[in-house]
Amino acid sequence: MKPDKRFFASTFLFLLGWAVTFVSMPSMASAEPFVKGAKLCEECHEEEFKVWQKTKHFTSFRTVHREPKDASKPSPKKILKAVGGQKRMKRNETCYLCHYTLEKKDAGAKPQAKSGTSCESCHGASSDWLPLHDNYGGKDVKREAESADNKAKRIASSKAAGLIWPTMKYEVAENCMTCHGLANPDLKADDLAKMLGAGHPINPDFELVKYSQGSVRHRHYPPDMKTNAEMTPKEQAEFFVIGQAAALVSATGVMSKSSEPKYVEAQKKRAENAKAALAGIPEAAELLASPTRDNALKLATAIAGKDLTGAVGSKLPAKGDYK
Ligand code: HEC
Ligand code: HEC
Ligand code: HEC
Ligand code: HEC
Repeated sequence: MKPDKRFFASTFLFLLGWAVTFVSMPSMASAEPFVKGAKLCEECHEEEFKVWQKTKHFTSFRTVHREPKDASKPSPKKILKAVGGQKRMKRNETCYLCHYTLEKKDAGAKPQAKSGTSCESCHGASSDWLPLHDNYGGKDVKREAESADNKAKRIASSKAAGLIWPTMKYEVAENCMTCHGLANPDLKADDLAKMLGAGHPINPDFELVKYSQGSVRHRHYPPDMKTNAEMTPKEQAEFFVIGQAAALVSATGVMSKSSEPKYVEAQKKRAENAKAALAGIPEAAELLASPTRDNALKLATAIAGKDLTGAVGSKLPAKGDYK
């Protein structure tokens, strides 16, 4: 091979490698979906936005970092100091995990805490699924005219891109537990122990129906899309069982993460509560014997649409106790 040919060949290979890298870049970038922010959702989901604005998830943004006057309440300053936080709570990466939504306009922007727990904390960071989730099959196609095929593809593609659809009840429930069960995998065991030592609350009694059907409830569905419908007793019973399954799997999974006594005790109590609640449900036998995520998903599928009001009945929370 003459030198000039070798040069040509290696240049060609270099360019080819570069082109391959370049072409595959968009998919690399989308490996890290990001949060676009609730303001964007408001454009099309006004009713849901109005509901959210009245929840503690929203109002907490302005209040949670303030020192409470009542000294028996948890002190944000103390908790922050315990984990070695130099900055304000709003700028601390441990507190970010649960108390705030870090959003950015585009992939290259610097993420900022713009609100408390928000739409995408529960429905998934939207950068990848946003353009997919509302596409009925073209710009001019209305919901009524959407083909069954398009609908199936729309749901599957946005799910693959990270949207937690309201119909994915188990995924919805396990997501609440990452924060409410202090089970976020990115929370370091050390920091967890320090937070709890400094008085951070841990609530072993988070129950899905009680916590989702009060202030947080938004259920605007066809045909009218305007009524914030209450769950029927049958829907409540199913959601209750799914919530208990998620609580059991979460508590069992994280129990040994920290030896901080408050943590171990709360997770044990959570698991015991869930076991007692699931005891009368035949479909839960496998999960009770082995509390894995797979078994919980199997349970959710097995009870979908079933009437469990008889088995769950009196275990449901009273409406007056809804959060
Ligand atoms: C440009 C308008 C538009 C924007 C912006 C938008 N959505 Fe949607 N969204 C829709 C439409 C239309 C549907 C209904 C799809 C259907 O018929 O199932 C929908 C459906 C949903 C659903 C499923 C509802 C159901 O019935 O199961 C969720 C959850 C959702 N959107 C969340 C969000 C969130 C969170 C944001 C902000 C990050 C957002 N959307 C931004 C138009 C939009
Ligand atoms: C793994 C999720 C998670 C992390 C991380 C976390 N928190 Fe919390 N925090 C919660 C939850 C959930 C509650 C509500 C607990 C309850 O009462 O059920 C809460 C409650 C609080 C409260 C009490 C608020 C009130 O309304 O009484 C304070 C103060 C607080 N957290 C401070 C902090 C600080 C400071 C950090 C960072 C060092 C932090 N938290 C990190 C989940 C978390
Ligand atoms: C605390 C978690 C949480 C937050 C925050 C949250 N959602 Fe939801 N969302 C849910 C759950 C759970 C459901 C399922 C309700 C059901 O079907 O029982 C749901 C259902 C929906 C639906 C379908 C029902 C309806 O009312 O339209 C849409 C659309 C939606 N959410 C959009 C949003 C938007 C937009 C925001 C922010 C303004 C938001 N959600 C904030 C948990 C949440
Ligand atoms: C990203 C973390 C996160 C997720 C996910 C999350 N929450 Fe929360 N939630 C919090 C924090 C933090 C607080 C406490 C805020 C405070 O006290 O200032 C809270 C408070 C609440 C409250 C108010 C409780 C009270 O005592 O007034 C309810 C109700 C609630 N969450 C329900 C839910 C439900 C239901 C889900 C799942 C569908 C959910 N949350 C998912 C972080 C989260």
